[in-house]
Amino acid sequence: MNYWQEHIKIGNLSFPRFIGGPLDGITDSPFRQLVREFSPNELLFTEMRHVACVANDKGGIKALQFKQLERPLNFQVAANRLDFIEKACEKILAAGVDIVDLNVGCPAPNVVGSGSGSALMADLPRLKEILTLFRKVLPIPFTVKIRAGFKQQNAVDVAKLIQDCGADALSIHPRLQTQKFEGRPDYALAAQVKQAVSIPVIISGGVINFKTAKIVYDQTGVDGFLIGRGIWGKPWKLAEMERHMNNEQFVIDNKQMFYWAARHLDAMIEFYGPKGLFAFRKHLPFYLKGLTDASALRQKLVVSNSLEDVRQTFVQLMEQHGS
Ligand SMILES: Cc1cc2nc3c(=O)[nH]c(=O)nc-3n(C[C@H](O)[C@H](O)[C@H](O)COP(=O)(O)O)c2cc1C
Repeated sequence: MNYWQEHIKIGNLSFPRFIGGPLDGITDSPFRQLVREFSPNELLFTEMRHVACVANDKGGIKALQFKQLERPLNFQVAANRLDFIEKACEKILAAGVDIVDLNVGCPAPNVVGSGSGSALMADLPRLKEILTLFRKVLPIPFTVKIRAGFKQQNAVDVAKLIQDCGADALSIHPRLQTQKFEGRPDYALAAQVKQAVSIPVIISGGVINFKTAKIVYDQTGVDGFLIGRGIWGKPWKLAEMERHMNNEQFVIDNKQMFYWAARHLDAMIEFYGPKGLFAFRKHLPFYLKGLTDASALRQKLVVSNSLEDVRQTFVQLMEQHGS
């Protein structure tokens, strides 16, 4: 077996190296169900939820209402203080997940403003307390997602702390908080992190296909690849990468693309009720990207407030693009 065919080991678990990353508002339960149809064994992340929101849940939080077929699942949380962590972990464990991930990389102003996400990279004593508590209360693997740093790079020090506190793996999106999603990810820094720790290191940032995974591997030597924006509008992305890894063809033609977009819409209606139609619209440009008439098609699909009309349009599009 070569590097690509070997699995990444996280605690006592192992997975293919291509992992479905967390995208808030995108990689929700309906989307993950679709990914599963292509990729039965790959690890998928949930969207991030604050531990307070999980701990105080009275049954209304959608993030805990996933299906078991979405597993193996890494449930991602944010935290800025200790008091909600134990209760949140109890609820997450009761919902049935495989791993819990702490987000120490989120750059959003409302998240860092409360001291969670990437703000924790600038407060190592607090981060240590939080990591220690997670490790204490979690009987399953625990991972952490970091950035290059908050305002200044300190990912190597943070990675060592994460390892010392007993985490089973870490992922790094090597940009500073101040860079948000702009600029080239600092793969040299990711390579330093990989060298500095013995737990598995997963790269996040700029990996959109097998070709880029290979380039990033050569520069970093990492153990796994978190696919973020590359999976948006392409629930088959992880399967495509696995096929290309084995030198096999993988083609989704336009008819199939419309089929999966329509299936995505149906899954969102089932999960969110009628408002799923409006929530689905953000996915459309990502499915239609690359089509010559993408903008006209998007217009057609977003003007209608009738689920039946939109479904009918998808049926027509599949007929028009039939082979
Ligand atoms: C719309 C959007 C939502 C995101 N939500 C999360 C999130 O909930 N948790 C997280 O750790 N990262 C989140 N990220 C960051 C991605 O997981 C990833 O680290 C980043 O986009 C870089 O990887 P990429 O180039 O593969 O997209 C989000 C990114 C985007 C664009």
